[in-house]
Amino acid sequence: MTMFSKKIACIGAGYVGGPTMAVIAMKCPQYKVDVVDVSEARIKAWQTDQLPIYEPGLLEVVKAARGRNLFFSTDISTAIRESEIIFVSVNTPTKTFGEGAGKAADLQYWEKVAREILRESKSSKIVIEKSTLPVKTAQTMENILNANGKKIRFEVISNPEFLAEGSAIQDLLEPDRVLIGSRETPEGLRARQEIVEIYANWVPREKILTSNIWSAELSKLVANAFLAQRISSINSISALCEKTDANVQEVARAVGMDSRVGSRFLNASVGFGGSCFKKDILNLVYISESYGLNEVARYWESVLQMNEFQEARFVRMIIREMFNTIVGKRIALFGFAFKADTSDTRESPAIHIARKLLEEKSHVAITDPKALDNARIDLAGSGSDADFLEDPYKAAQGAHAIAIMTEWALYRSLDWEKIYKYMEKPAFLFDGRNILDHERLFEIGFNVYPLGRPPLKHF
Ligand code: NAD
Ligand code: UDX
Repeated sequence: MTMFSKKIACIGAGYVGGPTMAVIAMKCPQYKVDVVDVSEARIKAWQTDQLPIYEPGLLEVVKAARGRNLFFSTDISTAIRESEIIFVSVNTPTKTFGEGAGKAADLQYWEKVAREILRESKSSKIVIEKSTLPVKTAQTMENILNANGKKIRFEVISNPEFLAEGSAIQDLLEPDRVLIGSRETPEGLRARQEIVEIYANWVPREKILTSNIWSAELSKLVANAFLAQRISSINSISALCEKTDANVQEVARAVGMDSRVGSRFLNASVGFGGSCFKKDILNLVYISESYGLNEVARYWESVLQMNEFQEARFVRMIIREMFNTIVGKRIALFGFAFKADTSDTRESPAIHIARKLLEEKSHVAITDPKALDNARIDLAGSGSDADFLEDPYKAAQGAHAIAIMTEWALYRSLDWEKIYKYMEKPAFLFDGRNILDHERLFEIGFNVYPLGRPPLKHF
């Protein structure tokens, strides 16, 4: 086993730990990479070709390294003992209880891992924060880890992950940047350099940024807050466009072509979802409040309020346009994942919208190419009036309305004339992602409601 030049462990085999370690292992055959998790089901799935998460290109990367230098296991103790570098990529959800409930990050999994590392370690190690954490968490980490009578030393590094789901492999192979923060002591700088060397196997040096540890922790929260803020900004303008006959896509194009603004992340939508944006902004709000910066907290909170407004007004539009009642009507939701190319539904706007439609006593038919298993779990307990169908044509059968929830490319190439024939008339189409050809749908006979553009109605 001495043939590997470094031994790396990763605790937490989720959406971040799995793909990130698979790419490191593929790119660095000279390292041994052990990915461990408490969830036996997840680890079992990583060992097969039915991976626990859907991510384009992931299976190929896993297969290139699995069994060679990439190993998945539930044996956390051995992985800790045998590795000199430990990435920690466990979940850090929003706290649901006690002090800071609904805002602060819940660090219980994180702290449990710290104590486990301390208990199992017999030699000095570098511990890397891969999870997204409140700024100053490294201090706590160091306090726990270095309060040991074992005379071993832990260096804590912050290396936040910027990958987005659906494009994780591409983002990992060609990142805009990699950020590595450390203490600026001789030991801290040495540890920082070790991590730089890992990424330098495939990432150009000029894209590997180093910083002090607090900047690295804070940058991750800020990057997500800025991205979410762009979506909330354009979504707020979509509401104004609907009142003024402006077209939000034309506005976004004109604004985004200013090179100081840039064109990405300006697609009006039914709202942003995903496991990160909401929790990370809440985290930023909580941190700001705890330093007495209430104006800062309110500023970022408004980004989340705009997102809730966008979801709520989408449902209000559906009810209003369908003659103020949807009782007993079948509404087909096209897409349930929080974005295209993922099976993940965490914080998906589709969850909130489906629940509200069910409360209004409509019958909801849900279709999604990858996320139906998660959709069933999300809606368990929200009433039985929901159908889950792989085939979008079946979901549309007998429907009064279709609402596009996820920007899956396949929805653009469906046979919309056939779908129109299957539906009750008048047939309504609410495009919560502005991805379809609205004029053509109108010609087929649909009443079409885009976001932030005038509707195309036959009455
Ligand atoms: P996840 O829930 O998919 O995975 C976390 C894994 O950690 C789970 O499999 C869980 O079983 C495991 N775990 C929890 N406690 C453990 C313990 N004590 N020992 C061993 N395993 C344990 O979460 P994720 O989406 O991979 O996110 C992980 C972190 O990365 C979060 O802090 C998140 O904010 C951050 N992040 C996520 C994304 C994303 O797009 N999902 C992107 C960047 C950063
Ligand atoms: C995000 C960040 O992009 C990533 O850098 C970070 O590491 C984790 O959080 P993710 O949540 O996986 O990634 O997906 P992202 O592509 O950011 O999309 C988030 C949500 O915003 C999705 O619901 C998406 O549909 C929505 N969105 C995105 C819009 O509504 N409009 C846009 O223009 C872009």
